[in-house]
Amino acid sequence: MLLKNAFIYTDGSFNSSDLLIINEKQWIVGKNLSSIESKQVIDLTGKYIIPGLVDVHVHLREPGFDYKETILTGSKSAAKGGFTSICAMPNVIPAPDNINSIKMVQDIINKDACINVYQYGCITENRQGKKTTEFSMLKDYVTSFSDDGNPVSSDLVMKEAINKASFNDVLIAAHCEDFSYDDPRMSEYMNIKRDIELIKDMNITCRYHVCHVSSKKSIELIREAKKQGISITCETAPHYLIFTNEDVISENFKMNPPLGDKEDKQALLQAICDGTIDMIATDHAPHTHEDKLSGAMGVIGLETAFSSMYTYLVETGLINLERLVELMAINPATTYRIPGYSDFTVLDTDADYIVKADTFLSKGRNTPFEGMRMKGRIIKTICKGKIVWEFTQ
Ligand code: DOR
Ligand code: ZN
Ligand code: ZN
Repeated sequence: MLLKNAFIYTDGSFNSSDLLIINEKQWIVGKNLSSIESKQVIDLTGKYIIPGLVDVHVHLREPGFDYKETILTGSKSAAKGGFTSICAMPNVIPAPDNINSIKMVQDIINKDACINVYQYGCITENRQGKKTTEFSMLKDYVTSFSDDGNPVSSDLVMKEAINKASFNDVLIAAHCEDFSYDDPRMSEYMNIKRDIELIKDMNITCRYHVCHVSSKKSIELIREAKKQGISITCETAPHYLIFTNEDVISENFKMNPPLGDKEDKQALLQAICDGTIDMIATDHAPHTHEDKLSGAMGVIGLETAFSSMYTYLVETGLINLERLVELMAINPATTYRIPGYSDFTVLDTDADYIVKADTFLSKGRNTPFEGMRMKGRIIKTICKGKIVWEFTQ
């Protein structure tokens, strides 16, 4: 496939070039490329080509909750959103805490996923926070370890998990929530603080990542830890960067952790600019309308993530497109060691559209972005050298 005349992201900046995709792992960027072998030549004048987007925090719900989402619908939704790699959280049934249940998920991925789907293994058996899983046995089958949805409350168990993560050189993605605090900001802050102190006390290097950071106090803590040289990374989600608790008008604005106030949002935006936040992840959490009405927490985000961030971060002048590419493709891929394939996303940054949940490929309709005007559209998603999604009028 030969893509001509686009602005192509290479080594941190955009240059007008051509992209020749040779196979699933090899490609060439250069001026005036021509290819006799290439059957497909596409002119992309005025469009941008960026590395395929990576979302390290997605709930695909299969197995166990396929009425909410499946690996098939979730991966299609991701492809439409410009993602070529996603990491699937382990709050499914059976829990991916042993080789058998992990292989079972992998079989569905091999059969149904239209993009690269990497799965998380559980930190503890059945995500109950009591007994850590066999990291050394599971590590070759999973991208990282998380108990997302649940924190690891016990200090002792978390210490063991940090030890195992360090020894096996794997990443822990922590859902930080300390149940002894009612205030969600304190709850998040105290759990992150506990983990940082454990890592300091143990005096070891561990790939420790904080999921969905939502508040000012947590950001200050992480910024300080980074200054002290602790190996810590973190993500936030688009909804925390766009909304505050004053915007909550329906159940589609309810997630865990909840939306913060203006100061929290401001601190998160600042942290996006100064590098304290390493990446943006959606925490795509599909639920049925009935489940939302009965209190299920979470919002979907795969199909709106790029446009929402382009509109609210780049169009507003807060960051440039290069930094957004770092936040949504480069940094998550580096931190999670996502394998490098011929994965690209093609953008039309001039296009705008109105979000309509009934056009989503996800089974979920629980979006807080319904009816909002967004700038920046994904026009092609290319995974392992093949077009897996394409915008048609
Ligand atoms: O809002 C949330 N939804 N927070 C979580 O931690 C879990 C997630 C889900 O699985 O729905
Ligand atoms: Zn979580
Ligand atoms: Zn989650």
